[in-house]
Amino acid sequence: MMDHRAALRLILLSVFLISASSQAVKKKQNVDIYSFYINSTVTSRYATTVITSRVANTLNESQEIQFEVKIPKTAFISKFRMTIEGKTYDGVVKEKQEAQQQYSKAVSRGQSAGLIKSVGRTLEDFKTSVTVAALSKVTFELTYEELLKRRLGKYELLINAQPMQPVADFKMDVHIQEKPGISFLEVKGDLSTGDLANAIKTTRADKDAWVTFYPTRDQQTKCKSCGESGLNGDLLITYDVERRNPKGEVMVSNGYFVHYFAPSDVPRIPKNVVFIIDRSGSMYGRKIDQTRLALLRILSDLDEDDHFGLITFDHLVDTWKRELLKATKQNLENAKSFVKKIREGGTTDINAAVLAGVDMINRHPRVGTASILILLTDGDPTSGETNIERIMANVKKAIGLKFPLYCLGFGHDVNFDFLTKMSLENGGVARRIYEDSDADLQLQGFYDEVAVPLLADIQLKYTGGTNLTKTSFTLYFNGSEIVVSGQITDNSVESFSTEVIAVSKGSSVTYQDTVMIKDPSDVPPENEDFMQRLWAYLTVKQLLERQVLLKGQEKEDEEKEALKLSLKYQFVTPLTSMVVTKPQKDEVEVADKPKEGKEEPEYTQFGYGKVHGHHSSANKFLSHPSLLAVAGPSPTIADDTDYGFFDSDPDPDFYLHSVMPTYSSVTEQLHTTENPIVQVCSNCFLLPAAGQSKPLCFDVPVPHKLKLLQDSASEFVMNGESLSGQNGFNQIAFHYKSNHHLIISKQSISYRNGQDDVQILWGQTPTQHDTEGVSLVVHEGQMNVTMGNIRVVILLQKKDQVLFLWPAIWEYPKDVNLTGILGKPNISYEGIEGSQTPTLKIMNKEVETYLETVSDYRLHSTPFRECWHVPFQAVMGGEISDFTVTQL
Ligand SMILES: *[C@@H]1O[C@H](CO)[C@@H](O)[C@H](O)[C@H]1NC(C)=O
Ligand SMILES: *[C@@H]1O[C@H](CO)[C@@H](O)[C@H](O)[C@H]1NC(C)=O
Ligand SMILES: *[C@@H]1O[C@H](CO)[C@@H](O)[C@H](O)[C@H]1NC(C)=O
Repeated sequence: MMDHRAALRLILLSVFLISASSQAVKKKQNVDIYSFYINSTVTSRYATTVITSRVANTLNESQEIQFEVKIPKTAFISKFRMTIEGKTYDGVVKEKQEAQQQYSKAVSRGQSAGLIKSVGRTLEDFKTSVTVAALSKVTFELTYEELLKRRLGKYELLINAQPMQPVADFKMDVHIQEKPGISFLEVKGDLSTGDLANAIKTTRADKDAWVTFYPTRDQQTKCKSCGESGLNGDLLITYDVERRNPKGEVMVSNGYFVHYFAPSDVPRIPKNVVFIIDRSGSMYGRKIDQTRLALLRILSDLDEDDHFGLITFDHLVDTWKRELLKATKQNLENAKSFVKKIREGGTTDINAAVLAGVDMINRHPRVGTASILILLTDGDPTSGETNIERIMANVKKAIGLKFPLYCLGFGHDVNFDFLTKMSLENGGVARRIYEDSDADLQLQGFYDEVAVPLLADIQLKYTGGTNLTKTSFTLYFNGSEIVVSGQITDNSVESFSTEVIAVSKGSSVTYQDTVMIKDPSDVPPENEDFMQRLWAYLTVKQLLERQVLLKGQEKEDEEKEALKLSLKYQFVTPLTSMVVTKPQKDEVEVADKPKEGKEEPEYTQFGYGKVHGHHSSANKFLSHPSLLAVAGPSPTIADDTDYGFFDSDPDPDFYLHSVMPTYSSVTEQLHTTENPIVQVCSNCFLLPAAGQSKPLCFDVPVPHKLKLLQDSASEFVMNGESLSGQNGFNQIAFHYKSNHHLIISKQSISYRNGQDDVQILWGQTPTQHDTEGVSLVVHEGQMNVTMGNIRVVILLQKKDQVLFLWPAIWEYPKDVNLTGILGKPNISYEGIEGSQTPTLKIMNKEVETYLETVSDYRLHSTPFRECWHVPFQAVMGGEISDFTVTQL
């Protein structure tokens, strides 16, 4: 007998396949991208890239044609132009607020939301579209600029190409001009694999290099990441320049100068490095494994005259040894066995851990060495001192700018703004470690960048220079580069002098140089203003970076300056917007640069990149970040503050509303409770409480069939079955308006609505189903169920190798009378002062409580949360028997 379910599955699958492929075919027939050029010019590390796409509407009627490209996050867009029927339409960069007000209509239609988005680690997606008349053509042209940064001894120029279809005339031209000469050059990236490698040509002269990439139409479908829709991937050009002059390279052009300083003729300075490693519960699994792996490798790379310390922390701080130890073989072996035993558990006391690290370095001042503190964390401070302002003040005071603090934020749950600010305040930088299979390599890569300090306390001075970018640096590491740019005060003088003072291993060093301004410039005339633009780019970047550190008038002044330059050079920065006016009457789009440090779900990775909303609610549902987030990496929930986690989202319809208002703190008496006992109760439900920082939690006795949520008015009910000795639920059933029945088990999902009978397997490709008020989206161990105005997310979770289901409700519908265990959106309680054991007042009853740390299964990352544990009856106002059902 043919399995009934298998047949249905097959039908469902083919429906998806048909709709997917017919769309692609339709697109191909009617839109012809007949030419696609990428032209990148790098002059003295400043890269200007122009993407030109020429597209024909081959349809007998007018249609919308889309332009979508990916550019590096570090770049600023500086020009966008569309040419249609001989007329050009230029994007204009305006002050963000002004643009938002002036074009509030476009903004409120959500048209600013989609133009530039962050994708993945390094790229941003720029997207726009225009209506093109029957059998007409359009040319799109986008320019972006960036200063390439030297890392681990090389510069990297990343160019992404994804024209969406094979293109008859595809050309990528890269021209690199470096005055001191190019020492090596390599072309990598997925576009250099397979048959495509033959389409790459590299030509080198002493000071120039040209890379061309002209794949034929046929070749465009044959690379690792390419397919029927043509090229899809990156070309990565890495190179370095000759450094014959230890004083650095100075270039002067049109009243501006740039100084590249990267000496390599100095000995390394021995270092004191302390690693402060978060081992809180949320590091569970791959994260802690990867951290251990990276630490073991890093320890092996320490030099014998380095000293090191290891600190691990959750709510407790453990120092491996109280003192900094020399990196001898024996000490490293002992340290490695300590690292192998690092286990996760508990909450996060960042304050105490960092202060312990500072103390360790301060107690062992060693002359002629460089000290470095490296903090690795994946979460917010959740125990000990949790006030971010106070932590920063403590750390700043303790370090006193004597050495830098580097912060590595691991995964999506970190408060990256906080880490950025704390490291900038202490002369370091913050770096994101993306939760991925190569996280250990990212960690090690970061260490490699700071592994070899060559100079400390570097001060750069320029006689005859003004409006300088940053001129003082804590440490200079081998493989990096210090770049300073500025204006020349008097362009009529003959020469210009540079001076660098720094501390080398144990002694002070000075580098002095004089360059003749009147020397013929090597800069080609068409590129003459590049140095001015480089200066503007670097100035704006640094002003924006400093914003987090400043307050009051100074902050305002610097922001004004950054804005002025952004407008003058037409850079799309976080302070400006690009307004694109289209040929159609009144149609305007506003493009904003996404905020840095804010992690967005990775659209393309999950195949959602090309859901081009023609605004069926289903599409919107699927392409909207708030719902994608459930599919991809977990959204950040700012612990203890608010649950409105997509505050950048301009579309109120899809805003996941705060489940609870912003908290103020509980009474001091409750706060002073000792470290929490970690008792992970198996079916602990978290219940947000109005006006309080900690939620309540309660245990549901198992096993039972339970009524989880019910809305009698809309004939909605959700029941769950739990098994003894296990977490969460074994099965969850939904019933809606008598004819919709959804049963979710750990293996599969079955849905009946009278006409359809649908089976979906967990782990299948993203799947969606919509009928009369019911929408089901399954993706990556997560299912979104919408029935009427009730939305529930069911997560497939795993603990100790055992799978279970867990329901999460992020948004409660308004004016609906919900019942069931999850039927209370929030509850209020008050702490009672002066009692022996912590006591809360809930619904006019006094209830004894204790602080517990539980896993929050409403997120895939299952972060630990502190909550006040109370009996079931105290919050539910009834016995468990009032919430049981006989049938799912
Ligand atoms: C690309 O740049 C080269 C010069 O470097 C120029 O000859 C060519 O026309 C440019 N192509 C486009 C499409 O702008
Ligand atoms: C294109 O449009 C013209 C005039 O509207 C019509 O006569 C012709 O049949 C159309 N051709 C196709 C292929 O649809
Ligand atoms: C700095 O790095 C270069 C290679 O990039 C290497 O040749 C040199 O030895 C390094 N210097 C020190 C002091 O390690």
